[in-house]
Amino acid sequence: MKGFIFDLDGVIVDTAKYHYLAWKQLADHLGIPFTIQDNEKFKGVSRKRCLELLLEMGDLQVSEEQFASWLEEKNADYLNYIATMDASEILPDVSRVLDFLRERNVPMALGSASKNAVPILEKVGLTDYFSTVVDGTQVVKAKPDPEVFLIAASRLHLPPEDCVVIEDAQAGIAAANTAGMYSLGIGAAEVLSEADAVFMNFTEMQPSFLEEILRLESKPHK
Ligand code: G6P
Ligand code: MG
Repeated sequence: MKGFIFDLDGVIVDTAKYHYLAWKQLADHLGIPFTIQDNEKFKGVSRKRCLELLLEMGDLQVSEEQFASWLEEKNADYLNYIATMDASEILPDVSRVLDFLRERNVPMALGSASKNAVPILEKVGLTDYFSTVVDGTQVVKAKPDPEVFLIAASRLHLPPEDCVVIEDAQAGIAAANTAGMYSLGIGAAEVLSEADAVFMNFTEMQPSFLEEILRLESKPHK
């Protein structure tokens, strides 16, 4: 394995909770029940697709104008939540892992479905770690389609099978697997059962594991 592709929301920063709060606010407004479990399906999924899912849950059909205005409403709420975000919101031990990889000259990319990825990276001061950022403004097909990770790998000048993807979402793990990349889950093993390896958080990811991954010739066969 030669390169690492990081998801952003829920991996580097805990913005997953803000996405949830903003969707919950809209769901309440529309009278659609929406739980933390429902939110799992929204992780890694584009803003537009999330709203489609929410409307399907409420069995609502709406005009294009209404759809666009709710999308905007959700994003405005979300932007409010992240307005004051700074480096204190970087998840524990993320910086240690980024430093470990940078010291070894391992190329790193960001692969996120979010259209807010660039400003968030800036706010938390991590932009310089990544040689390239592929975000929701640059992809056509949302995760679980592998497009975002395939673009990231090509920008790192690496074949997909030499890349490790770090993801907290089921859709993201599926995308990495379809791309033929090593999928590394951050979160609960029951939720991310399709991943090649899972850690609850970065604190549990020891340097010896990272060294082992960098020595791997190929992704393990399941
Ligand atoms: C990430 C999050 C999703 C979110 C998506 C779009 O993948 O995990 O929950 O819906 O980005 O984010 P955006 O900031 O563009 O609304
Ligand atoms: Mg995520």
